[in-house]
This record gives sequence, C-alpha cells and structure tokens, in this order.
Amino acid sequence: MLNKIKILLKEIKEYTPSSLEDLDNFRIKLLGKKGEITTLFSDFKLVPPEQKREFGQEINKLKNLAQDKIKLLFDELKKSSVITKENDLSLPADPIELGSRHPVSIVRNEILDIFKRLGFTVSTGPEIEDDWHVFSALNFPPEHPARDMQDTFFVAQDPDILLRTHTSSVQVRVMENEKPPIRTISPGRVFRNEAISARSHCIFHQVEGLYINKNVSFVDLKQTLVFFAKEMFGHDTEIRLRPSYFPFTEPSAEMDVSCTLCGGKGCNVCKYTGWLEILGCGMVDPNVLESVNIDSQDYTGFAFGMGIERIALLKFGIKDIRLLFENDARFLRQFKSAL
Ligand code: DAH
Repeated sequence: MLNKIKILLKEIKEYTPSSLEDLDNFRIKLLGKKGEITTLFSDFKLVPPEQKREFGQEINKLKNLAQDKIKLLFDELKKSSVITKENDLSLPADPIELGSRHPVSIVRNEILDIFKRLGFTVSTGPEIEDDWHVFSALNFPPEHPARDMQDTFFVAQDPDILLRTHTSSVQVRVMENEKPPIRTISPGRVFRNEAISARSHCIFHQVEGLYINKNVSFVDLKQTLVFFAKEMFGHDTEIRLRPSYFPFTEPSAEMDVSCTLCGGKGCNVCKYTGWLEILGCGMVDPNVLESVNIDSQDYTGFAFGMGIERIALLKFGIKDIRLLFENDARFLRQFKSAL
C-alpha cells in the first residue's frame, strides 16, 4: 500500500494536462467515486492498527497534494482559455483593404491590351528628352511654328534638353534601334507648359502607336483604328477621320468616335455634334523615316497618338481632369478593373 502511495505521488508530481478535459479525467481517475485515492481510503480499514497512524498521514498527504495540484492546474488552464480578441478563432478576420487601380492605369491597360492582341509590342522612352527625339527627327524644322503648338518645358537653360511634349519621341527611339517591320505601342507621361484647368493639365499621359512595314497603307491605319474604337468603346461605335496636320505624318487626320454617351444623337458631352475627338494619326512622313535611316522607298508606315486622361474622363464620366492628379482615396476607390 505504501508502494501504491509512492507511485501515485510521483504520477501527480509529473502530471501535465493537455486540456481541461484531460485534467478532469485525471481528477476522476484519482478522486472520483472509484478513484485510486478514494479506493485507498476504503482500503484503510484493512490496515493493521499499529500502522494506521503512518498510513493515515500518507494518504491524507496524497489526497491534499492531488486536490491542490488539480485546483492549481484548473485555474491556470481556465485563465489561458479565457476568450479574448486575440485568441478567439471564431471572430471574423479583419478585412483586408484591397487597393484599386488608378483610372489612368485602367484605361492605359485597356488600350495596351487591345493593341497587344494585334501583335503590337510595348516600348517606352525617357521623359527627359532632347530636341532631336521630340522635334527634329519628327520633321519639325527649327523655328517652325509647329513647335509653338506644344508649349515645351525646358530643363535648365539648355534649349536642347526638355521634358517630352508627346510620346511620339519613342517612335524615333524605336526606329533608331530596330529594323522594320516595327509594330509598337508606347505609353508614357508627357509635359506641356499649359495652364491647369478642368479640361487640361501640364502633366498627362499618351499612348503612341507605330507600324512600319512594306506596303503599309492608309487602309491599314483605318482598319486598325476601327478595331481599336470598337474594342475600346463598344461594337456599335463608329469612327470618323477628319483631315488634319502634324509635321511627322502626311497625310494626317484626327479621329472622332461616335459619342459614347448619346450614341451620336447629340448631348452636352459631345456638344451636340454626336462625335468625340479621340486621337491624331497619319502616314509616317518619309522625312521621318529618312531621319532614322529607314529607306522611305521600301517602307511606309502609320502612326497615331492619343491622350489617356481624355479617354478616362469620357469613359468614367469624370468632369474635372484635376481629380486624376489629386490622389484623393475617396475618389480613387470608386474604380475597379479586371486589367
Ligand atoms: N503627338 C501628337 C500630339 O501630341 C499626337 C499624334 C498625332 C501622334 C498624330 C501621332 C500622329 O503619332 O500620327 O498631339
């Protein structure tokens, strides 16, 4: 019997519960109606009288130890299982704030996606440019009034270093570095020294397109633009080309699309004309090809350029271009996109 007490003492000292349930089972095993300690008490009557005193003391010690230890462990477990915000696994997780794409990025990605499907590659160039890539190679003669069309920001005092006023400069860089056939699209930020208003900003974005190959004709340009307009603005969209002038294209045109809001009937967005001006385009001027050493007898090409903000304003019905630059999260959160 003394041996049994020793074994139980050791067992109690070494016991660590794995859970509240485990601890309760341990309590029943020792102190329950048929528990091992309870049984020791009922066996006590069998102990010879001269040993009763010693056994009595040992059994009581054992019982007290078991009770104390079980109570202590119970309190500890209870405390650690108190449900708090930190350990409550049933609480819903904190919501993860998903960012949203900027409307300019949404429109840029849509434009790139459409032209990529036609086999156009994407190319980029520097924002700080030189006169050659922005003007001279694009057939703007020195002192030509066309340079005034694009109010240029010059960098420091150097008239040769400037912020590009259009992404047509990337055309030049691509043609300098690659041999035809070239089929590329160039998105980027451009800068013009213009007063900021609801309709225009001194920083904005353009996408430039260029296709150079043998036998490229105006029909190719028109088909490409029809495809783009229908993909971008919907399959009922119609286009209209109006003759225009750009130094780097001949002939040149401006493309209108049927008003995305009224479908051509006339509304205040299209100023009751039924048309919206979207881009400039034309056949690459042979002088431009020659300036980058592409033989204009062998090759022809078309080019086009459009402003991303303008399309974003139309697409999302935004009334003031400045909203696109203020980065007010309440404004930006409204835009969702798959691209
Ligand atoms: N670079 C012109 C602009 O910023 C847009 C443009 C017009 C680009 C005609 C072209 C083009 O490639 O062919 O206003």
